Amino acid sequence: MTTFPVDKIRADFPILKEKIRNKPLVYLDNAATCQKPQTVIDSISHLYSHEYANVHRGVHTLSIKATDRYEGAREKIKDFINAASTKEIIFVRGATEAINLVTQTFGKANINKDDEIIITAMEHHSNIVPWQMLCEETGAILKVAPINLQGELIYPEFEKLINNKTKLISVVHMSNALGTVNPVKKIIAAAKAKNIPVLLDGAQAIPHLSVDVQALDCDFYVFSGHKLYAPSGIGVLYGKQALLEAMPPYQGGGDMIRKVTFEETEYNTLPYKFEAGTPSIADVVGLGAAIDYLTEIGMDNIAAYEAELLCYATEKAQHVKGLKIIGEATDKGAILSFVLDKIHPHDIGTMLDSLGIAVRAGHHCAMPVMDFFEVPATARASFAMYNTKQEIDVLIDGIEQLIEVFG
Ligand code: ALA
Repeated sequence: MTTFPVDKIRADFPILKEKIRNKPLVYLDNAATCQKPQTVIDSISHLYSHEYANVHRGVHTLSIKATDRYEGAREKIKDFINAASTKEIIFVRGATEAINLVTQTFGKANINKDDEIIITAMEHHSNIVPWQMLCEETGAILKVAPINLQGELIYPEFEKLINNKTKLISVVHMSNALGTVNPVKKIIAAAKAKNIPVLLDGAQAIPHLSVDVQALDCDFYVFSGHKLYAPSGIGVLYGKQALLEAMPPYQGGGDMIRKVTFEETEYNTLPYKFEAGTPSIADVVGLGAAIDYLTEIGMDNIAAYEAELLCYATEKAQHVKGLKIIGEATDKGAILSFVLDKIHPHDIGTMLDSLGIAVRAGHHCAMPVMDFFEVPATARASFAMYNTKQEIDVLIDGIEQLIEVFG
């Protein structure tokens, strides 16, 4: 029996008290974005009410306070993912921008015609399209490691793709469409044996698993704040310092310079070299508050509780006649993607909404995954630490009701 303090946690999220169509909200769309605890909301409100000014630019009190908050958040993120230095924590808009930054800087500097980049067949579009764009520009080749019908990477096939032309491996840590957690340690070990850098797309993994970038030994790790109980519009690119030092800058502008003349510009040191323009100051502070909140609960406690939720939901879903789970990996995060006989996923989503239940219906920005499973879309219930078994009961009852009406 778990001792996870879910009731206390739920009380910290004001939106969970909302009624949707006169029913208590059952929010199961956490893989798309998750809700925010009061402490995150308060941190933003406090900054704007008492401590707001631009960062790194002023000698006045408010600018110093705002800068302290902003850089304090960077320190918290460094500790949260166990990076070696705050120089390795670059603020970006989200995981998507982080991957685009790597393609446009590391990619353009190091990847040439006929070089190869390996991804997997379960990637989000954000870890496909930027590489396709780079390949188009450079003549490099994108290799896709296949998955099996459980939605797991076929590891021996992945390993066969690694060769002397491989310049980067970019793999999702946890799939948003299937929930699969990839064997990233094994992948990184295989890459390291050939000195190939590895980028992990951690957008889904970071709210569910304890992430230690030094233990993983990945070269880049990217994630978004909004899936981590923090505001949207802020995310992180972690990169090993030596790699980031060697990369050209991404965007030009304020903060990323040390000295500018009309003849030439000297770039700033890390991490500012990659942070052009006034950043999303309040969102960074909100991300810092989210990390404080999560650290207090403990990522291992969250992972254990969510594993229990997934196990409960899977067991119940398996008993629903006509329901097929898409994504049955042995190592899986708290995501239940499914289809129902004769009912389109969009109808599932709309019907469940009428019962106050929020799920996502669609291709989940992973169209190749849908093609592989030969479905146009799936309905996806994705769980967070504030969800309960009672909410899963409401979901399953809802699904059964709609099968009765439409099935
Ligand atoms: N990538 C997000 C999702 O999985 C938006 O829904």
